[in-house]
Amino acid sequence: MQERRSEIITGLIGAYWMELETVMNFIANSTNLVGVKAEPIKQSLAADATEEVTHAQMLARRIHILGGSVPGSASFKMAQITSQPPEDTTDAVSVIRGVIDAETAVIHQYRSVIALCDGVDPVTEDLCVTLLADEEEHRRVFQGYLTEYEKV
Ligand SMILES: [Fe+2]
Ligand SMILES: [Fe+2]
Repeated sequence: MQERRSEIITGLIGAYWMELETVMNFIANSTNLVGVKAEPIKQSLAADATEEVTHAQMLARRIHILGGSVPGSASFKMAQITSQPPEDTTDAVSVIRGVIDAETAVIHQYRSVIALCDGVDPVTEDLCVTLLADEEEHRRVFQGYLTEYEKV
């Protein structure tokens, strides 16, 4: 039980870092992107950035309640290679693909924490199910953008 709880906390901390890295890249891309078709993507990223901050705060609270410690930036390791702002600031497709990759990664993370919670921690499970639903929705929106962009 104690071991499972520490695995759950580790999983939540992993998700916490992913949320915060997403915030950095969403802010950067929502600002840097230019061009006639960039505006809806910029607005979508800016709105999602706020939502991802809320996710990080919810995860932090749960980590604390479970007896874990929310880490500071010193232990942060970047992972979102494909979400980096592209050199070509009109390259919306690269931004869209990066968002889909980031959302897919955090979806996997939530699924793995949900599996760890099964039968032992329904509250964390419930939180992760809620966040998973948000991420699936974010990803669906950007998959729609990609479908449109790939037609051009
Ligand atoms: Fe999120
Ligand atoms: Fe998201």
